[in-house]
Amino acid sequence: MSAARPGPAEIALGGGPLGADSLSEQDAAGLLAFALERGVTLVDTAPSYGASEERIGRFAEARPELRVSTKVGYAVPGVEDWTSRCIREGVEQARRRLRRDVLDVVHLHSCPLEVLVGRGVVEALVDARVRGRVAKIAYSGQGEALEWAVDSGVFDVVQTSVSPVDRRALSAVLPRAKERGVEVLAKRALASGALAEPHPEDGPDRAEYRRRWQALGLSEELGQERASVCDALIRFAAWQPEVDVVLVGTKSPGHLGAACDAAAAGPLDPELLSRLAATYAEVGAEWPGVI
Ligand SMILES: NC(=O)c1ccc[n+]([C@@H]2O[C@H](COP(=O)([O-])OP(=O)(O)OC[C@H]3O[C@@H](n4cnc5c(N)ncnc54)[C@H](OP(=O)(O)O)[C@@H]3O)[C@@H](O)[C@H]2O)c1
Repeated sequence: MSAARPGPAEIALGGGPLGADSLSEQDAAGLLAFALERGVTLVDTAPSYGASEERIGRFAEARPELRVSTKVGYAVPGVEDWTSRCIREGVEQARRRLRRDVLDVVHLHSCPLEVLVGRGVVEALVDARVRGRVAKIAYSGQGEALEWAVDSGVFDVVQTSVSPVDRRALSAVLPRAKERGVEVLAKRALASGALAEPHPEDGPDRAEYRRRWQALGLSEELGQERASVCDALIRFAAWQPEVDVVLVGTKSPGHLGAACDAAAAGPLDPELLSRLAATYAEVGAEWPGVI
């Protein structure tokens, strides 16, 4: 399956870590500069990622070659979340923070199906595209809402989780996205860092991925050495025929460079891929995608 594509998916920078207090302004700008040097020209952010949008905006102002992807639906002061007004004003807020007249990609950020349908939020985002504020409109999420977004024919892009521990979208909906010409951004390709030492501030997503990792016996299949496991995870996502872009969430230029090298190294061995798929079908068929 994975040998079917002529080259790997594009590597993009996941901008969650860019907003962290633990990253200095200088290191944030250095990471973005390194990304451009490595040919990584897309960065994904959101209003919920701390100072990420502002930091990207300060850098991106003088670097038109950097494409920006962000999200809306909440966090506009004084405006009710998930209303058409929140989408309109969220787009304007993002244009100001990211210092761009036209935003390259804007997602509805992980809202459930009942919010997608009947509240006017999709229409408000379509209107932002019509008015030239946004080049591509997107939905980020999982499950039935993701399926609705793909089938609606309205969205240019979807963003969803793709890794050996999170394959629901890969089998359930991404082939349809491909058929319909919807661009696919893969998030959580590195299992959101679940392979790192457990930390008291780890969220439930990492705990869930760790549980799945053990249930699938992935340490036996992919080894224990973190750098080579990360390489394998990037190769897994970047050579899926349905994936156009792999977001790599990192604050480390070295790790971003490693992801670029891993993607270029080619797909994983087909026999390994078959075993991973078979074990998942046996053990994880009912697991939902992690938002
Ligand atoms: N739409 C949504 O709801 C949503 C949800 C989740 C994520 N996202 C998007 O997807 C991006 C990525 O997601 P994510 O950050 O959750 O997960 P991820 O990319 O799967 O994993 C990031 C983690 O992997 C570590 N890492 C990366 N490269 C490594 C390497 N070579 N060796 C060892 N560790 C490595 C990073 O630590 P270091 O910093 O030390 O490299 C970080 O802890 C986010 O930044 C965001 O843009 C969107």
